[in-house]
This record gives sequence, C-alpha cells and structure tokens, in this order.
Amino acid sequence: MKTIILSLGGSVIVPGDIDVKFLKRFRKIVLEFVKKGNRIVIITGGGKTARDYIASAEKITKLNVEDLDWIGIHSTRLNAHLLRTIFRDYSYAKIIKNPTEKIKTNKKIIIAAGWKPGCSTDYDGVLLAQNLKVKTMINMTNVNYVHDRNPMDHKNTKIIKELNWKQMKKIVGNKWSPGLNSPFDPEACKLAEKIGLKVIMIGKSIINFENLLNGKGFRGSVIE
Ligand code: UTP
Repeated sequence: MKTIILSLGGSVIVPGDIDVKFLKRFRKIVLEFVKKGNRIVIITGGGKTARDYIASAEKITKLNVEDLDWIGIHSTRLNAHLLRTIFRDYSYAKIIKNPTEKIKTNKKIIIAAGWKPGCSTDYDGVLLAQNLKVKTMINMTNVNYVHDRNPMDHKNTKIIKELNWKQMKKIVGNKWSPGLNSPFDPEACKLAEKIGLKVIMIGKSIINFENLLNGKGFRGSVIE
C-alpha cells in the first residue's frame, strides 16, 4: 500500500468559483488510486474564499494577523468538508485539524485542513508527512513548475525542475502573512528541509497528476 500526501492548493479548488469540472475529474482519479489499495491524505487550502474573506474583514475594522489567519483556517475547513463529502463512503468522516495527532482510521481517503495561525496548509501537510512517516508529498497549485521569481508578478521568469531546500527558501523568502500566495510557505520549507522531505510541485493538469500517481513521467518541480 502506497500513502500519498497531497497538499491541494485552495487556488486549485476555488480559483474564483468552485472548479466543479476539475473536482469531478480529480474524484475519478483519486478513487481509481485508492481502489488499487493505496491511501491518500488530502489537505485543502483556502483559495479565493480565504483571500476574499481576509480582504473583506481587513476593510471593515483593524484586525490582527491571528484574526485573519483564523478566517483563512475556516476557509480551508470549508473546502475540506467539500472534499470529504464528494468522497463520501470512501473518506474518514473526521476532518484532520491537528496534523500531529494519531490518525485512527482504515479509510483510504483522509481529508485534512488548516490547524492554527501562523502558517499555511503546506506546513500542515509537512507535519502530516512527518506524522505518517511518508517521505514524499505532492503539492498541487496553479503553476506547473517552481519559478526563480513569482510568475504572477514578473516577466521572463525561469522554471526550475530540480532544486534543494536552500534554493527554495531563497525563492519563497522568509516572511509569513495571512493569505500569502507563495508556491510553498517559508515555514513549510524550513520543516521540510529539517525532516528530509521530498516535495513534488505540480500544476492543475489531471493527466499529469494521474501519471505521477502511476509512477509515470510527469511535469513538475522536485525539491529535496
Ligand atoms: P492556505 O494558504 O493553505 O490556502 O490557507 P491557499 O491560500 O489556498 O493556498 P495555496 O497558495 O492555493 O496553496 C489559507 C490561509 O489560512 C490561514 C493562513 O492565513 C493561510 O494563508 N492558515 C491556514 C493558518 O493560519 N493556519 C493553517 O494551519 C492553515
């Protein structure tokens, strides 16, 4: 039995509206994977929901970073409930919030969400990998590769297919902020490096994801 930890970016689930078409195809691939006897732990991000709620709250009154993070956390939990529900009979009924707690289920699909302020679900995913002693985590976001600079803000960026954590930390920087839009959060990078985790960053292509699950060639960046 193979266990996969997948950090599913909120921007993949809710880029604007909820991406129903994507989720339908994603559901099919995940069910095929677990029907072969494998297990998958999916941690959901907050996406547009998180960013809209955080931005709106900030406009209404002065709030501290922790307040904003809690709104983000609850957005990730809403997405987690969406995922848990669409996998209904196959998924553990409880959403994992504390990624360091022992997980007691033999269900093949486990859904996790945000835990506490100060980080992202990427960090929670790394903690889950540590908890379940899994050596590789997949991070699906809305970009196909890690770039040397944020492609949303810069032109002429270069893609990097293989890099180490030192290089990755240089790219993502050191600063945490609620709703941070970075390929992998700085805290998650530090912990991943410390525990020797390999992270595979892929974009939203379902065929690519399927190839990766099946051990075939895929498009993406590998950080280790
Ligand atoms: P994420 O940053 O994980 O979701 O959580 P996202 O923005 O959808 O991620 P990507 O970039 O698409 O992968 C949303 C927000 O929730 C709060 C943070 O403010 C975070 O930016 N959060 C999440 C926490 O404070 N703690 C957590 O454990 C998880």
